This record gives sequence, structure tokens and C-alpha cells, in this order.
Amino acid sequence: MKIVHAASEFYPYMKTGGLADAVASLTGALADRGHEIAVFIPGYRNVLEHPDASEAVTVLRPKIEMGDVFMSGEVKTFSPRDGLKIYLICRDEFFDRLNAYGTGERDYEDNHHRFIFFCKGVVETMRLLRMNADVVHCHDWQTGLLPLLLRHAEQRYGDVLAMHTVFTIHNIAFQGVFPMRSFYRTNLPEELTGIDGVEFYGQMSMMKAGILFADRLATVSPQYAKEIQTPAFGCGLDGVLATRGEDLIGLLNGIDTAVWNPATDEMLPAKYTVDNLAGKETCRTELLRRHGFDAAFKGPVFGMVCRLTAQKGVDLVLANREFFKREDVRLVVLGAGDALLQESLRDLATSLPRKVALSTRNDECMSHLVEAGSDFFLMPSRFEPCGLNQMYSQIYGTIPLVTNVGGLVDTVKDISSDPAAGTGIIFEPNAESLLEGLQRAQALYAKPALRKAVQARGMKSAFGWTQAVGGYEALYD
Ligand code: ADP
Ligand code: GLC
Repeated sequence: MKIVHAASEFYPYMKTGGLADAVASLTGALADRGHEIAVFIPGYRNVLEHPDASEAVTVLRPKIEMGDVFMSGEVKTFSPRDGLKIYLICRDEFFDRLNAYGTGERDYEDNHHRFIFFCKGVVETMRLLRMNADVVHCHDWQTGLLPLLLRHAEQRYGDVLAMHTVFTIHNIAFQGVFPMRSFYRTNLPEELTGIDGVEFYGQMSMMKAGILFADRLATVSPQYAKEIQTPAFGCGLDGVLATRGEDLIGLLNGIDTAVWNPATDEMLPAKYTVDNLAGKETCRTELLRRHGFDAAFKGPVFGMVCRLTAQKGVDLVLANREFFKREDVRLVVLGAGDALLQESLRDLATSLPRKVALSTRNDECMSHLVEAGSDFFLMPSRFEPCGLNQMYSQIYGTIPLVTNVGGLVDTVKDISSDPAAGTGIIFEPNAESLLEGLQRAQALYAKPALRKAVQARGMKSAFGWTQAVGGYEALYD
């Protein structure tokens, strides 16, 4: 099949979180299956400076209609691997910036214009290059307007640009809601500004547009597919989603086992396998050393890698300050984002310098070292559409501690409720329950034979894309 993907992130060119990993590894897996894949992403500065893009050629200089003006753009393309072409929608005014969506402090003020322009650039490129896609697969709010814009362009020009559209929700908490006065930039019919269109509490919601107007909807785990149809997790869109319940499917993300594999991982100081864990010990020592801890420390090491946002339950960790103060454990956190959370974590690390360490960089290599060098991986998310880190950690022999939400439920089995098949520790998203989880981890750490059995099961888990790709193929069919 000829499949076009559109997304705002793609590993390794632009990444703020799991979206980048998921889109890159899904499209790679589809290319492996013999599909012809085109992936549209914005031409961010990082992408244009990436060595892969040095071969990029300009294929189009479209004039994009943005309300009452036309804005010029440039479309570049390169092919990082067989069967997959990247198309960059470029316009320096919008994308020649350091970050995808904003500075740590706040979002860029023109994100609506940037992503309307991006979506329109995709449509114009598909039209002018006659791409004739079987499926256009959109990801998250940044591409939410694309299904509508495609159909509108088809009516306007009398062409068929794509047979079908799919919209995958990676995180319903981010909806792309902007003042309705920006809607005219889309050049879509005025009637779409109503409640049956993009309107969301008087504003324009790009996520809602994707949900209402894509032919089929997917999200990134079966559990999250159920959750987002309820008020507790739907972030105000549960009602809209429920009207499309029959078209919504939860397909668990896979992970890229070429990037995340301790037996081949070049980012680690030592490699290892389930049969020979000596390299994991080296990684642990290096992790402790790099954070100024005693490298010979014998107790449990907890690791955490995440965007610092309310979603990730960082406050629950902070609420357990006493535990880290009292117990002989270590905690390494790698995370950037919300300034207040960062400050509170910094306080914790400063007050417990021999026990807690914080790095606030975005550091891909360090994220691999935390996964490999920790004994336990902490993921106390309040909600988690899929979550990739708990899968990475299992493959790296690091036992995950996760909440009972979203994709975490679909990927971790609790050792108490299922002693023969358990791979981790599951608790509820509150501070007391996390404390119990931490204590259970300590108890497990004190039983090496049991711990090794749990670890080995995790390392042998099959988290590749085989199953999910089959699911997406069936959806496309
Ligand atoms: P989310 O997409 O909600 O952020 P996921 O678990 O799906 O959560 O994916 C997070 C991804 O982002 C993982 O690959 C993780 O290693 C990475 N990541 C998060 N924060 C950092 C950081 N500060 N440095 C490097 N990688 C990070
Ligand atoms: C989002 C979600 C995360 C998911 C990722 C990839 O960022 O927060 O849970 O793993 O998308 O689908």
C-alpha cells in the first residue's frame, strides 16, 4: 500500500517524547513489510542540520493559502532507508527554531499558524506531486485538521488525494485548542466552526477535528482506548469520542528493537544479554559514578526518565520525600519541562545529595544509561496513553514500577497478582500507593533469585512492532 504519514516528531530528527519514537518505528516497520511510505514532518532547524538531510532535494516551492494571504514554502525530501521517504514542509518563519512547540517556559504563540501551514503544505504536496495515497495516517493534534483539509481540497479541485484517513491519538491531554478567530486561516467552510465541527468551548480544537473527520481512529493502547471514552480520562472529548466508539481501536505501540536493545546498544558503556548480565553491572556502576554516588553502593537504584509534566506523577515522587530520606536507596531522575516540578526535584536532590540526583537535559545517551543502569524504573503516571519507557526498561532488565493506567496496564504484569508471569509492580496513582510500590521493590530487591526471575521475564518480552503493524494493516484494509 501507499501510505502517507504526517506528524510533528520523528526520531532522530525531532523528539520531545514518545511520539517521535512511535512514529519513526511504526513507519519503519511498515516499510519493512513492503509498503511504500512517505512521512511528512515540519522542516525544523534540527532536521535540516541532521546529516541524513544533507542529501535532501527541493521538490516543490508551493504557495500556501492561509486565509487571505498566500505564504511561500519549500518542500524537501530525502530517503533515510529503503521504502521510506521523508518530506519536510519548510518555512523559516515557522520552523527555523530550536524547539518543536515552544521554550521550556511557554508554547510558541503562533503554533496554530505553524501547524495549519504544515497540514496545508502536506495537502498541496500530495496534490501537486500526485501522490495518490491509499491511506493518510495523521498523528495527534498537530495533524488533526489534515483529514478535513484533504477532503476540502478534493472537492475544490475534483481530485482524489487519498482513499482513506486514519487519526492516531497519542495523547488526548494535548488538543491544539486556539482562538476561533484563527479558523479563517484554514480556508475551510464557515459552517465547520459549530459544535458539529471544530468548536470546543468557543474555541477551535484541532484534536476534535481529527476525531470527527478521520475515517478511522486509533490510539496507542487498548486500555487507553477505553479510558478516553470516560470523563476521567477524556479531557472533555470523551463525549465526542463516544460518538465514534465503533471507529476507534487501541493498538499497542511497539518499540524499535534496533535502537532499544542492551545486546547491541552503542550508547551504553557495556552491552549485555539475559544470559550474561555482567554488562548491566558495569552500566549501574557508571550510572552511579556519573551522578556522584558511591559506585560500590549495594542497595536498590531507582531510575526515572520523563518529560516533567503533571501527567508523569512527579508530584507523587516528591510526596514520598521521607522514603528517600529514610531508606538506603538511590534515585536518578532525567527530565526536563515544567519549571516548578524541576525546581521541586532540584530541592529534593539538593537536600539529599548522596541519594537523589537530577539531570534536566534532554540527553538520549543518558536515557539509555538510566534504563540500563537502574534496578527499578519508576513510572508513577497519572495517565499514560501507551508509555514506552516501561517497555524499554523491561528489555533492559530493569523492573518497572507503574500505575494502573493506560498502556502501563497492557504492558506490565504485577508480580503479586501473577507470581508466575509477573514483570513489574503496579500501584494506584496516589502517594500512599506509590510508597507501597517502593517498599515492595525493596522487598523484591532483597530476594535476588526472585528478582532475577522477574527481570528475565521482562527481558524476554516481545515488544516489537509485529503485532501492532498487523493491527494497522488490518485497519488500513
Ligand atoms: P511521553 O511520550 O509521554 O513523553 P513515553 O514513555 O512514550 O512518554 O516516551 C518518552 C520518551 O522520551 C522516551 O524515549 C524517553 O526516554 C524520552 N525522554 C523523556 N525525557 C527525556 C530526556 N530528558 N532526555 C532524553 N530522553 C527523554
Ligand atoms: C504520547 C504519550 C505516551 C505514548 C507516546 C507514543 O507522548 O504520552 O504515553 O507512549 O505518545 O505513542
